[in-house]
Amino acid sequence: MIIATTAMGSLKSPGLSLLLLSFLLYIADSYPNIDLSNMGCEECTLRKNNLFSRDRPVYQCMGCCFSRAYPTPLRAMKTMNIPKNITSEATCCVARHSYEIEIAGIKVRNHTDCHCSTCYFHKI
Ligand SMILES: *[C@@H]1O[C@H](CO)[C@@H](O)[C@H](O)[C@H]1NC(C)=O
Ligand SMILES: *[C@@H]1O[C@H](CO)[C@@H](O)[C@H](O)[C@H]1NC(C)=O
Repeated sequence: MIIATTAMGSLKSPGLSLLLLSFLLYIADSYPNIDLSNMGCEECTLRKNNLFSRDRPVYQCMGCCFSRAYPTPLRAMKTMNIPKNITSEATCCVARHSYEIEIAGIKVRNHTDCHCSTCYFHKI
């Protein structure tokens, strides 16, 4: 997939990349376990963090949630510095519950439950 994306980026002709894209979609379509709506992205679940899992497993939420694009409401448009008439919105896979633990002097959060919610960024 990485090779394909790189190849697509280097193609100058939009027609050609469209052709390649539909070809890729065709390939993806022939593997039923690949969910097209979430291509290249797995479901939001708890996954073991191999970096911090030493004697006990440390879990973190990883994966994808929905994203969509829609026309920007007029009211929101007026508040933008650079008006964009298409707004994209996404939710992120975040922890519903987590608690802080310390591993080798580094504070890490062990997640216990995940859900799709507002995107925010936090330290590990
Ligand atoms: C993290 O939480 C899981 C259960 O959700 C637990 O089994 C594991 O021992 C915890 N890891 C640490 C390092 O506390
Ligand atoms: C989006 O904005 C451009 C100009 O910035 C305009 O030409 C176009 O018609 C707009 N499209 C929609 C769907 O409103």
